[in-house]
Amino acid sequence: MNNQDKAKKLAGETSVKHIENGMYIGLGSGSTVYWMIRKLGERVQNGLDVKGIPSSRQTQEWANEFGVPLTDFSEIQELDVAIDGADEVDPQWNLIKGGGGALVREKIIAASARKFIVIVDESKLVSQLGDFKLPVEILPFGWEVTAARIAELDGEPVLRRDGHDAFVSDNGNYIVDCDFGVINDPKTLHQQLKQLTGVVETGLFTEMTSEVIAGYPDQAKTLQKS
Ligand code: 5RP
Repeated sequence: MNNQDKAKKLAGETSVKHIENGMYIGLGSGSTVYWMIRKLGERVQNGLDVKGIPSSRQTQEWANEFGVPLTDFSEIQELDVAIDGADEVDPQWNLIKGGGGALVREKIIAASARKFIVIVDESKLVSQLGDFKLPVEILPFGWEVTAARIAELDGEPVLRRDGHDAFVSDNGNYIVDCDFGVINDPKTLHQQLKQLTGVVETGLFTEMTSEVIAGYPDQAKTLQKS
């Protein structure tokens, strides 16, 4: 296992300490979350009684594989905790998410949780957002028009592809990966994008994060907000 994977494993496994008996948990997506679900599955086998809501089909499959019981929002509308990865985390804990294409469900889950814990390896910690291209989920119908409106905001949108075809999210939508350069005001940019007809959601998560657990090859640290 390389150092980045060791760091992801440590961050993911450490986050499971926050989970207590009886909790409803939002399960994020991605390779760091994989380690969290695996560890959570071990605790469930040892008697922990919890239920999770998965943010992607892949997460649902992992939860089934590791024996984590699942539910959905018809049973519970407020989660005790959500745990998810990120593509970038700035010092104010604004995030870029959506590298795996699950940003809409991830945001619904994070917004429904009393506590939102972000698990990342150290490479995701940045001084300002924007190096990672911002994923924006848009409706397939008229996607070219929506992309043109995003381009007018200087976003340089590129349609995400899966081979030759457009990548299709779990919600049946497209994703454009946008280069806005350094993002100085993530909240305002998010609001500008959300106003465009055809935009479903952006990968900017602002004022949502409760705690960041950063993984390093030999330890995981809970960060202080600056
Ligand atoms: C998926 C996400 C992931 O959380 C993000 O891409 C980080 O993934 P990983 O833990 O594999 O680095 O936002 O939509």
